[in-house]
Amino acid sequence: MTSAVQQLMKVFVTRRIPPAGQAVLAQAGVCSIQQWDSEEPIPQAELLAGVAGKDGLLCLLSDRIDKEVLDAAGPSLKVISTLSVGYDHLAIDEIKKRGIRVGYTPDILTDATAELTVALLLATSRRLPESVVEVKNGGWTTWKPLWMCGYGLSGSTVGIIGLGRIGQSVAYRLKPFGVKRFLYTGRHPKPEAAVELKAEFVPLDKLAEESDFVIVTCSLVPETQGLCNQDFFRKMKKTSVFINTSRGAVVNQDDLYEALVNGQIAAAGLDVTTPEPLPTDNPLLSLKNCVILPHIGSATYSTRNTMSVLAANNLLAGLKGENMPSELRL
Ligand code: NDP
Ligand code: DGY
Repeated sequence: MTSAVQQLMKVFVTRRIPPAGQAVLAQAGVCSIQQWDSEEPIPQAELLAGVAGKDGLLCLLSDRIDKEVLDAAGPSLKVISTLSVGYDHLAIDEIKKRGIRVGYTPDILTDATAELTVALLLATSRRLPESVVEVKNGGWTTWKPLWMCGYGLSGSTVGIIGLGRIGQSVAYRLKPFGVKRFLYTGRHPKPEAAVELKAEFVPLDKLAEESDFVIVTCSLVPETQGLCNQDFFRKMKKTSVFINTSRGAVVNQDDLYEALVNGQIAAAGLDVTTPEPLPTDNPLLSLKNCVILPHIGSATYSTRNTMSVLAANNLLAGLKGENMPSELRL
C-alpha cells in the first residue's frame, strides 16, 4: 500500500505559532502536522506522546527537549527547529549523539531584542514604571529637585557581558546617547567591535568595577550559569544599573535581591527570570528599584512572524535533507 499520505513525513509542533509560519508548514506539502494548537504550553505527557515516531519537531524555548523527550521521539527524529535563537532548552549533547539536526532563529530578532534592551535600560535607570505609579496614586504633589532622579547614559561607561549579535546591536544603539566607554567580556575579544565601538575586552571583575550600566546579552551555557552572583554585585558601583535580557539563569536572583535591598547596586531591569513566569510573590517584585518584564525581547509582530517563517523553513529543509536557512552548528 503506497499512498501520498503515507509518504509524508511526520512533524510535531508544540504550540500554535504565528500565522505566517503556520502557512509555510501547511502549504509545503511534505509533512503531516500534529500540533498542540494552544497559546498555553504543552503538558509533558502530551509532549511525550506527541513526539513519538515523528521525523521533525518544531518547539519553543519553554519546551525542555531532554533525553526523556528524545527517547520518546525515537530514532525517526531527524530535525528539531526551535522558534528562538537561544537553545539552552535543548539537550545538545544528546541531540548530537543521535545525529539530529537543529534549526534556530538568529539575526532576525536582533534589532527587536536590542531595542527592548535599550527600552528596559532607560525605564530602569530613569525609574519610569515607578514614576507612572506615582502619577496615578497621587504621589506627584509638586516638582521637587531630587524626586524621581535616576542615572543618565551621557558620559557613562557601559559594560556588556557577551558582545554577540544582540550585545553589539545594543552598543550601537547606546552610542548616540553619549556613552563614553564600552567594556565587554566573553570567550574571545572582538577586534572588529573594538575598532567601531572602541570597546575594550576586559576581565569580568574590571567590567563590574568600572561600569555604570552592566548589560547581560550572553548565551546561557554552563560557564555563564550564575555568573552574576554576590561576588559580582559586590564589585559593582553603588550607583550602577544592571540589565539582563539573555536568560534568567545567568543571574543568581537571591544575590541580586540582596544587592538591590542593601544598596550594593542602584537598580535592575530583567526581561528574563528564573523561573518563567516569575511567581507573583517573588521578593524581587516587591522592590521599586527592580523592573521586570515577561520575556518580551523579540516581541514585535513582524519579528515573531519572521521567526515563525524561519523556524518552519528550517524544519522543512531539515526534513528534506537540504541546507537549512539557519542551522546550529553542533
Ligand atoms: P550570540 O551567539 O551572537 O552571542 C552570544 C554571546 O554570548 C557571545 O558574545 C558570546 O561570547 C557570549 N558567550 C558565550 N559563551 C560565553 C561564556 N562562556 N562566557 C562569556 N560569554 C559567553 O547570540 P545572540 O546575541 O543572538 O543572543 C544572545 C542570547 O540572548 C541568546 O542566547 C538568548 O538566550 C538571548 N535572547 C533573549 C531574548 C529575549 O527575548 N530576552 C531574545 C533573543 C535572544 P563570544 O562571542 O566571546 O563567544
Ligand atoms: C530567543 O529567541 O532566544 C528569545 O529568548 C525569544 O525570542
